[in-house]
Amino acid sequence: MSTTNPSPTPPPRGEGLQTNPTLAPPSFLGKGAGGLGSSVRPNVLAMKGYAPGEQLNDPEIIKLNTNENPYPPSPRVFEAIQATLTSNKLRKYPEPLGDTFRRAAGKVLGVDPDCILIGNGSDDILTILTRTFVPEGGLIASPTPSYILYKSLAEIQGARFQTVPFDENWHLPQPWPIKGANLTFIPNPNSPSGTMVPKVLMELVRAQVAPYPLVIDEAYIDFADDRASWVQTVKHCDNLIVTRTLSKSYSLAGIRFGFAIASPDIIRELTKVKDSYNCDVLSLAAATAAIEDQEYFAGVRAKIIATRERMRPALTELGFDVTPSHANFLWCRRSDRPLKPIYEELKRRKILVRYMNYDGYDGLRISVGSDAEIDKLLAELKSL
Ligand SMILES: Cc1ncc(COP(=O)(O)O)c(C=O)c1O
Repeated sequence: MSTTNPSPTPPPRGEGLQTNPTLAPPSFLGKGAGGLGSSVRPNVLAMKGYAPGEQLNDPEIIKLNTNENPYPPSPRVFEAIQATLTSNKLRKYPEPLGDTFRRAAGKVLGVDPDCILIGNGSDDILTILTRTFVPEGGLIASPTPSYILYKSLAEIQGARFQTVPFDENWHLPQPWPIKGANLTFIPNPNSPSGTMVPKVLMELVRAQVAPYPLVIDEAYIDFADDRASWVQTVKHCDNLIVTRTLSKSYSLAGIRFGFAIASPDIIRELTKVKDSYNCDVLSLAAATAAIEDQEYFAGVRAKIIATRERMRPALTELGFDVTPSHANFLWCRRSDRPLKPIYEELKRRKILVRYMNYDGYDGLRISVGSDAEIDKLLAELKSL
């Protein structure tokens, strides 16, 4: 982050719920849950719930708010879905562990299929991890500003949630200040910044949180340097778990498919917690076809990286302070004008970006669209 844009104000430590099972149900029970108020777990009743990015049902809108891929998935995905539809497979349950996908992904990533757990999107994987490792009243840690779902997962679980502010270079403090968290989530590249934690620093954090697991959320890793992933390190570390999604780089956000890579011992425990059939036959067929088509994947990845690299100087020219990104979005701030009205005006002009506000530290997170979409965005911003 530049010096003109100070790092975010640290949010209060220990934010989240303090649960005490011996307390009587609080008096607000029943207020928002109809007659069921007294049956709903207090932590669920008290939470706001995760608010996903806006999904407007307007085909004309240029959608740059939830980091979807502007290009279609591989043509092989459509063939695989079609073949599944016509082969009598809908009638039967899918492969519970997704062995066909695991073999294909294992080959591409160079890991044993036994090290892979499939999920209904990587959010499903993050939920499974929370349910497996975090007891009620336990502790989840993550850096901030970061992916806001981690806090909701802690709230659902009745766990505490603590955050550690990134420093002005979007690096993590040393030593890592939270001891004894049952689970630590670090997105790498991070959202909303698109930045990466240097490998040496990440390794220190991993060693310091041990024996508890460190989850490196690699939702955006395919847009980063080829050697940036932690997938290969999983073999050597008992407390490292990597999560991936096909929503972004494989253009399959609508299909919902993600996976985790960890030691076979960890995967065995996670498998007990997941729904037996958490991925359906269509998503399994689509995900397998997508990951097998590495040539198509590489083409899309290269196009997005090229567009991202031209977006940054263009947005800087327009007065934004843009953080160098390793992901398929850019974190854009400015000190001379408020950002929310820019988001609102763009929306009025049918361009949707994400306005994010972390306790007063705000910015626009703009996904990398197609070249035509970005040209339109830049033209509209110029006229604002
Ligand atoms: C950091 C991070 N992790 C995970 C996800 C979830 O992705 P999926 O679509 O696989 O659930 C997202 C989605 O935006 C994300 O930003």
